[in-house]
Amino acid sequence: MNILILGSGGREHAYAWKLSQSKKLSKLFIAPGNAGTSSVGTNVNLSATDFEGIKKFVLANSIDMVVVGPEDPLVKGVHDFFLADNELKRIPVIGPQKDGAQLEGSKDFSKRFMFRHNIPTAKYETFTKETLSEGLKFLETLLPPYVLKADGLAAGKGVVIPETLDEAKKELSEMLANAKFGNASAKVVIEEFLKGIELSVFVLTDGNSYKILPAAKDYKRIGIGDVGLNTGGMGAVSPVPFANEEFISKVEERVIIPTINGLKKEGIVYKGFIFIGLMNVNGDPQVIEYNVRMGDPETEVVLPRIKSDLLDLFEGVAHGNLNEKTFEVDSRYACTVMLVAGGYPEDYKKGDVISGVENVTSDSLVFHAGTTQSSGNVVTNGGRVMAITSFGETMQEALKHSFLNASHIKYEGKYFRSDIGKDLEKYYK
Ligand code: AMP
Ligand code: GLY
Repeated sequence: MNILILGSGGREHAYAWKLSQSKKLSKLFIAPGNAGTSSVGTNVNLSATDFEGIKKFVLANSIDMVVVGPEDPLVKGVHDFFLADNELKRIPVIGPQKDGAQLEGSKDFSKRFMFRHNIPTAKYETFTKETLSEGLKFLETLLPPYVLKADGLAAGKGVVIPETLDEAKKELSEMLANAKFGNASAKVVIEEFLKGIELSVFVLTDGNSYKILPAAKDYKRIGIGDVGLNTGGMGAVSPVPFANEEFISKVEERVIIPTINGLKKEGIVYKGFIFIGLMNVNGDPQVIEYNVRMGDPETEVVLPRIKSDLLDLFEGVAHGNLNEKTFEVDSRYACTVMLVAGGYPEDYKKGDVISGVENVTSDSLVFHAGTTQSSGNVVTNGGRVMAITSFGETMQEALKHSFLNASHIKYEGKYFRSDIGKDLEKYYK
């Protein structure tokens, strides 16, 4: 099969690396890809949202399946575009159509969906510019901290958690009256703050049956001790020590089954990944958010733990026979450490030469995120530069290898969080 992956991050390099091992694969293309994806496939100079360009490429290169990495093309309707086109509609797309993508594309839609299907989640209300004064009053009924979410996609920046009522009121006004996140904050969801420890559970579905993939924990903030600005993710660990069988079966019963059934009942045909962001509140799962794709950097630990052929699972999704497929999981820990550019997630430089990748030991995997080729060098090309994944019988062993190899890679301004996994150590006692 000829496969086209859309996207350019560490997640897409992990997809490309995994799919390149499939016996069913003929040719692999990544649009636009990065310096890492070009080592396992062919990069195509096309944006993941250039649907007309993608159509031409898919037809000219006899592509048999399109795997969508990021949410943006899904929310913009890349799958619908394929289904509406006579020449493209026979080509399966891994990722939901626009209606299903609303689970990530609109926080208000996803909260309403969860309430309709009795899926455990924080209480909330949604406000617009017209109902700003009600929103300000609603804030007074809540206890701090306050959780304010821009309804639409805001590049991971749309959730603000002020500590005081005054700050929360100011923030709400800025989001609604001053369009702080543009059109994304035309509606704002205000919800109850959940206290607990976060984790992510990943599901692959053909719309009827589903597979629960390994769970992972992500590290969102830039600073050591999980402080400072939010990032796309600074590292990840899988499995999650506290997500034992009992907890995952609660997630399956209370969240996954009602989600799949809810989509079916509402006539939403969903083929792809569902990323469920959860808070473990005293042993009970509460949904924080849905994403309609895999996580980044979670993919960099989840896919290396899947021992079976990912393309075989994707075929199950495409043809509606995922229930006939099986997959095996590596029981070892996989941990990834993200190397970022100095200054990220605020302003940062691009174009710095990266060296030392050849010194990374063969027991670790290097997934490129923001990199590109320039004059024969691999150079930085984004805030998150590379993820280094290692395995271990324990989390500590896996992390030791990733940190050691992180020290071998050099570029100006390199930064990473040296405390990935620290918060999980207490679960070993
Ligand atoms: P989201 O984009 O919805 O995942 O929110 C971003 C981050 O904000 C999450 O990863 C959580 O750390 C935090 N968060 C979101 N909703 C809540 C909530 N109701 N209670 C506590 N923290 C939350
Ligand atoms: N790492 C979080 C995300 O992909 O949204």
